[in-house]
Amino acid sequence: MSLSAALDRPAATAVPTSPIEIRPLTAGQGRGRLGAEVLGLDLSRPLSDSDFRRIHQAHLDHHVLVFRDLRITPAQQVEFSRRFGPLQIHVLHQFALAGHPEILIVSNIKENGQPIGLGDAGHYWHSDLSYVEKPSLGSMLHAQELPAEGGDTLFADQHAAYDALPEKTKQRIAHLRAEHSYLCKYEELRARSPWRPKLTPEQIAKVPPHVHPVVRTHPETGRKALFVSEHFTTRIVGLPEDESRALLDELFAHSTRDEFVYRHRWQAHDMVFWDNRSVMHLAAGTPEHLRRKLYRSTIEGDAVF
Ligand code: SIN
Repeated sequence: MSLSAALDRPAATAVPTSPIEIRPLTAGQGRGRLGAEVLGLDLSRPLSDSDFRRIHQAHLDHHVLVFRDLRITPAQQVEFSRRFGPLQIHVLHQFALAGHPEILIVSNIKENGQPIGLGDAGHYWHSDLSYVEKPSLGSMLHAQELPAEGGDTLFADQHAAYDALPEKTKQRIAHLRAEHSYLCKYEELRARSPWRPKLTPEQIAKVPPHVHPVVRTHPETGRKALFVSEHFTTRIVGLPEDESRALLDELFAHSTRDEFVYRHRWQAHDMVFWDNRSVMHLAAGTPEHLRRKLYRSTIEGDAVF
């Protein structure tokens, strides 16, 4: 069922609304419209359609929602994520949470010498699963264990980045398409983090590259956004290699300029829900001796236009 169909569907039973408060992040923490806090969401009971609508609208308006003090189980995270669409299962099934294949463990923790999750997820700027045919609508990342220092996540507003491009560049990239590949940086990351698993032929077969427009139009708001990333974009289709490289480097540098970025400093029980059609994100890194564990669910989006 599409998201708009889900919104139009009458509630089977009348579910009371929660006293949810949505507070845009203040200047200095988040710039412009990027980022809002959501306080008072209670997911231990069914979410009313009107609360869902408010959260959905806030997500479209602010692109990054920070749910504070959200004490939910993995099953509740999965159920809440599913309100927005079908969930995507990460190719690194080794790091799925037991009993919840829809949840990817993002963690630097090792148990009995083995990593329990993907420790270097988000090492480069990216939009989740941009390498598949239908890249992600959004991702939810729920803090389980946080380091005393470090471990921040940065978000860059790709609508603002597109809007700020010189007119000449907008015209140049208007109809260009770029290839996205999961494998692009995989071996390089594996060389730095040898515990990253070697991909099996079956895993490699699951992630063929896909081509998407360099400028995408948000399917719900109609806003344009840049859609290339240093993690997954390999080349601009149809350009000579040196030209493609130079243009991508220029776009990567522009798209993550400070004025487009919100830096999230995690608090206990935060869950952050970002719009992968509007932002890119980056894990700023955690000192090796400190433990960090978060659960990520990823919602499928539409083919990119
Ligand atoms: C991710 O890229 O999904 C993980 C981000 C983070 O660990 O901060």
